[in-house]
Amino acid sequence: MTEAVLLVGGRGTRLRPLTVTTPKQMLPVAGVPLLTHVLARAAAAGIDHVVLATSYRAELFSAHFGDGASLGLDIDYVTETEPLGTGGGIRNVASALRSEPDDPVVILNGDVLSDHDVARQIEIHQQAGADVTLHLTEVSDARAFGSVPVDAEGWVTEFLEKSPDPPTNRVNAGCYVFARRVIDAIPAGRPVSVERETFPELLGRGARILGQVDPAYWLDLGSPEAFVEGSVDLVLGRVGSPALPGPTGQALLLDGARVDPSATVSGGTTVGRGAHVGPGSKVLASVLFDGSQVAASAQVHRSVVGAGARVGTGTVLDGAVIGDGAVIGDGNELLAGVRVWPQAVIADGALRFSSDESPR
Ligand code: GTP
Repeated sequence: MTEAVLLVGGRGTRLRPLTVTTPKQMLPVAGVPLLTHVLARAAAAGIDHVVLATSYRAELFSAHFGDGASLGLDIDYVTETEPLGTGGGIRNVASALRSEPDDPVVILNGDVLSDHDVARQIEIHQQAGADVTLHLTEVSDARAFGSVPVDAEGWVTEFLEKSPDPPTNRVNAGCYVFARRVIDAIPAGRPVSVERETFPELLGRGARILGQVDPAYWLDLGSPEAFVEGSVDLVLGRVGSPALPGPTGQALLLDGARVDPSATVSGGTTVGRGAHVGPGSKVLASVLFDGSQVAASAQVHRSVVGAGARVGTGTVLDGAVIGDGAVIGDGNELLAGVRVWPQAVIADGALRFSSDESPR
């Protein structure tokens, strides 16, 4: 048996308004909830028991995934009444784990899309006799991340906070292997950040923390831009997933999607179930949720259109996020960073919105 804890309790504030009603991991990415991709990859890596550490909108996870049998997994749920943070969330599920003290337990952030080799990470963790093994990914600009230097043998030497001048571009990718006993030693019943508290403290006490540098595809889908990028990358085949619901390529059209023959839908766009793209419209590298509508002669670029939302004739969206059920009238222009609240109505009329005046 190999088991994993999936952290899925965050409120996903950076993805508002999409996360006002739906947790980030339940948002559709290339036609299925983001978490389905993560779970399917976990199963493919040989994980068979999964504990979901839930908090925000916990009931939506169990309603969708049930006992996990459809994914070949055995899923348990442990819910925090008050969010306990990443470390607190891991500690809180300890009673649901079945592993022995020295067994490896995989910890995954439920919002990361990755081709990373988790089975290999478990293997090197055990071979090295590590307490914790972190997947480290290399980013071109590490300033927005805490960086994690390692020595010549791969042992972590420091956990550094975000800085304008990071000494390494290797950053924590949010996928860990813990020896079970290390989880039991995290303080219980209070919020704990694994990144800011647990790891630095373990290192200070001389624990053996290994870094596994794996340059495979990796993306944290926590921001609207990254959410669109992850969905596009799945549809274009830049990252694989055993959970894709249909043939991919320039676009993924889900059941009942209708695209007018004079419309263009490309660049890795997903057109949701029952969604509709009208005559002459151009939809590029975007995500149209189920039941959404893009009327005629509209242009939608790198945007998310929420479930049942409507984009009017001739309207231009570029880098916009439209909440579920919102109605954007004809002839509007919604540019980078604009977020429209669910059910909001924007009248017809050549209005131009930028990010600081998002209509609610
Ligand atoms: P933002 O509010 O946009 O920063 O998103 P977030 O709250 O999801 O935080 P972040 O992206 O840093 O979280 C990383 C992972 O940990 C995600 O999969 C979250 O769902 C999860 N997570 C964050 N906080 C908690 C928590 O308090 N409890 C549990 N169980 N999971 C959490």
